[in-house]
Amino acid sequence: MASRTVEQVEFKKALGQFPSGVAVLTANTNDEPVGMTIQSLVSLSLDPLLVMFSIANTSTSWPAMSATGNLVINVLARNQSTLGLRFASRAPNRFEGVAFTPSPSGGHPVLEGTVAWMECRIVSELPGGDHRIVLAEPIDVNCLPGREPLVYFNSGFGGFRADQVR
Ligand SMILES: Cc1cc2nc3c(=O)[nH]c(=O)nc-3n(C[C@H](O)[C@H](O)[C@H](O)COP(=O)(O)O)c2cc1C
Repeated sequence: MASRTVEQVEFKKALGQFPSGVAVLTANTNDEPVGMTIQSLVSLSLDPLLVMFSIANTSTSWPAMSATGNLVINVLARNQSTLGLRFASRAPNRFEGVAFTPSPSGGHPVLEGTVAWMECRIVSELPGGDHRIVLAEPIDVNCLPGREPLVYFNSGFGGFRADQVR
């Protein structure tokens, strides 16, 4: 069967049908906090423990974050879509008015009110088209039970409701 050329717009639309959670990567770089929103977070490996996410090669925050070697992955709660948008902007003052505490190991920003956060050591960065694939090892993980996660689907933010529990 002949293949056809898939247009970027079709690709984006199809992948937009695949819901994900929303996380904010944070790091303390030269005493200045940096942060950016991602939805590409995936659990990769149990032994060793590894997560992966992808970062656009055009990211302005990533070079400084990568240089620290460690960062915090903050998994946003249902009521934190404003933070999701704020950290997806190029605003220089993304942390203004944002409540956070320093992580135990590297002193990186742990955002308040999330559903979970993990401090990670960056293990490697691999090429992935116009992104880079980052592998990171969690060195501290924390769940904050009783909160609902923020979900990203079809370019919009929403919530999650379980119909069945396995
Ligand atoms: C819901 C959502 C998910 C995103 N996921 C990613 C992602 O996984 N990787 C990425 O590089 N950018 C992602 N972005 C875009 C970045 O957050 C955005 O480009 C941000 O401005 C990057 O800031 P920087 O240039 O300071 O790095 C996402 C944006 C939104 C709204």
